[in-house]
Amino acid sequence: MSLVVVGLGRVGLPTAALLASAGHRVIGVERDPALREAVLGRTAGAAEPGLRELLDGVAIEVVERPVPAGVYVLCVGTPVRDGAADLGDLFAAASEVDRFAPEGALVIVESTVPVGTTDLLAGKHPRLAWVVAPERVLPGDALREIASNDRVVGGPPEAAARAARLLRSICSGRVEVVDARTAELAKLVENASRDVELAFANTVAALAESFGVALPQLLEVVRRHPRVRLLQPGIGVGGHCLPVDPWFLIEARPDLADLLRAARSINDAVPATWVERIARHPGTIGLLGLSYKPDTDDRRASPALSIARTLAETRDVLVHDPHGTEADLRSGSLDEVLARDVVVHLVAHRAYRGLRARVRRGAVVVDAAGGWT
Ligand SMILES: NC(=O)c1ccc[n+]([C@@H]2O[C@H](COP(=O)([O-])OP(=O)(O)OC[C@H]3O[C@@H](n4cnc5c(N)ncnc54)[C@H](O)[C@@H]3O)[C@@H](O)[C@H]2O)c1
Repeated sequence: MSLVVVGLGRVGLPTAALLASAGHRVIGVERDPALREAVLGRTAGAAEPGLRELLDGVAIEVVERPVPAGVYVLCVGTPVRDGAADLGDLFAAASEVDRFAPEGALVIVESTVPVGTTDLLAGKHPRLAWVVAPERVLPGDALREIASNDRVVGGPPEAAARAARLLRSICSGRVEVVDARTAELAKLVENASRDVELAFANTVAALAESFGVALPQLLEVVRRHPRVRLLQPGIGVGGHCLPVDPWFLIEARPDLADLLRAARSINDAVPATWVERIARHPGTIGLLGLSYKPDTDDRRASPALSIARTLAETRDVLVHDPHGTEADLRSGSLDEVLARDVVVHLVAHRAYRGLRARVRRGAVVVDAAGGWT
């Protein structure tokens, strides 16, 4: 069966590669010419472990516009702008698919969407069979997660069953079929839940600091309670999911979203508190890590990046990240960063483990990511 994946980004490219390696004929549709070129030139996906090797072993056609096929998998971005969902790319992709798809073709929305979006698309494009199968993947571990996470598919039973069969061809996890609104809401609830839990952890960290209580010891004691689960506080949240998805709920039901709004504003305020903590120390600053979480090159909405940029406005800052940095920041080698007056462990990349002893004597260490040895 010929299958079109629309959007070859962090979700679409590994999905396309896994589908192709499962024996499907896969055509990737990508509007970004540089990314099309990179996929065709076999240079795309370098930051995702195993993806380049997988892509080397499969044949994926890459084109600019959808072509006729039996199944379409939509993996385009669905960002938030000023607290409102921007579904422009998704609606554009849906219209393009509708122009080329044969009657009755299955369209699987893997993008994260506000509740009701799949029904809306089905109303606008009734020739096609619409389902939603939100992706839960973790960048940096995408192939393993896509292949083994449990999945939810939402939509009319016959179309959802078709989509579930397809997903089972690449995924050993449980594939649950529900209605579209349940699947959409499940994805949003999952990420809102993590956002709220992290906001609580970050609040605990702020309380501990204000009372002069050592956070690691406090966490250790609290976690001994048999029914208390407390996440590790961090430097804020970033990426494509946590800072975005709760807004789809807040926008739709502001009357029910006080807790979600509070979590968003607590987590968004955390990087500024780290800027203040780091800036207390005089001298040159070295920052380790810029991505929004360990072991990925994804710097979208990264709190580490925002901390680096704010500090660099007034201080001598050198940054390092093994997965890439940004042109507007001064980057240095690991040794140069470790030789600074203030060395900040911002992101717990594996590459930084065991390096704390290499910070020069007399320098200040700020372990913002926690657990640095
Ligand atoms: N990145 C993650 O970790 C993650 C995890 C779970 C879910 N999601 C969700 O998956 C969706 C995709 O996220 P992503 O991180 O892969 O985004 P991305 O920005 O990395 O990739 C999206 C790609 O779609 C392309 N595109 C947009 N409109 C197009 C069109 N009409 N035709 C062809 N190509 C088009 C873009 O050029 C881009 O390359 C989002 O809804 C996101 O919320 C992402």
